[in-house]
Amino acid sequence: MARRKQFEKPLHGDKESLRFATPEPIARYRAQRLRSKVLADVSCGIGGQTVFFAQQCEFVYAVEIDPKKIEYAKQNCAMYGLENVKFICGDALDPKVIEQIPAVDVIFSDPFRPAEENERHVSSLEPGIPNVLAAYGEKTRNFAFEAPPQMPPERIPFDCEKEYISLDGQLNRLTLYFGGLKQYDRMAVALPAGEGLIPKYGLPQVKETDKMKLCAYEPEPSVVAAELLPELAESMIQMAGPLMGGFELFIVDKKRLLLTSDALIKQSMIKNHYLVLKVCPFEPKEINKFLKGQNIGSVVLRAGVKPEEYWEVRNAVEKDLEGNKTVHLFVKDEIAILCEVIFND
Ligand SMILES: C[S@@+](CC[C@H](N)C(=O)[O-])C[C@H]1O[C@@H](n2cnc3c(N)ncnc32)[C@H](O)[C@@H]1O
Repeated sequence: MARRKQFEKPLHGDKESLRFATPEPIARYRAQRLRSKVLADVSCGIGGQTVFFAQQCEFVYAVEIDPKKIEYAKQNCAMYGLENVKFICGDALDPKVIEQIPAVDVIFSDPFRPAEENERHVSSLEPGIPNVLAAYGEKTRNFAFEAPPQMPPERIPFDCEKEYISLDGQLNRLTLYFGGLKQYDRMAVALPAGEGLIPKYGLPQVKETDKMKLCAYEPEPSVVAAELLPELAESMIQMAGPLMGGFELFIVDKKRLLLTSDALIKQSMIKNHYLVLKVCPFEPKEINKFLKGQNIGSVVLRAGVKPEEYWEVRNAVEKDLEGNKTVHLFVKDEIAILCEVIFND
């Protein structure tokens, strides 16, 4: 999938802040969802999100503890010609900062988090979510927070909507919506298309299988993270019709799962649609022989191959291929599943 530019206009900022700034398609999507009269972004960093709030809202308060970053945020808003932002440099939890912010429609916070953690927890966010809720409770009941998307819904100890967002097929952001902003328990969004999936209660879990059918479907990672596979499978059954049978879950390994079915359909929350070409022992030379007659030029290895063996395996399966189609090669328990990508527009 083509990699998009992060920002239409390159933002001002230091290397680390630019790395943590919200990618533009997500910032634009979120600003649409939080569109209101007055919003306060209480940990705004260099303003990667603030700029888009200011485009959608009448007035924005932008708070940041780091004086250098707030200067960048000012420059970024100026670059977009925005004059409806009041910048406040200080600790968002300091009463002197809080008193400068009037009653608002929405409080948003994208808190600082450690660059790496063995397991992500809301308790390592700064400023902390409970602290912001308490400090600004008299200003509004509508809060939204960004949180690390590696946290499953069960690890989020609040009554809020958990919205997982994938961008260009990768899990990218998690937004938590509180109070009047909460619409569902969970939601999955796929950007840039802007498609969404919400919970439907009473659906059975998707049945697991070890047998690949004619077609395989790789869900958007936001669907998996939001634990909405039953909803996705149900929407696909609706599209395929009752005669085509169901969709089953094929777990490739800890990181990869596919839905499989004999029905061929196109669904917007599917990242990759595949025709299953062959299921066979994982023997690179034999796989290469098979691929030679199939107009295939490249093989994307989707297997837990050791990094030092990656190129050896890839070169063996791709040896002398001259076609123009691409296949993805999954491996489960030493069995290879060769899948041709379809509907790749
Ligand atoms: C992840 S960054 C925000 C990125 C921003 N949303 C963007 O898209 O550019 C988190 C910011 O929170 C700031 N921060 C941490 N604790 C704070 C506090 N108590 N008050 C205000 N800002 C704080 C950090 O300095 C950091 O710039």
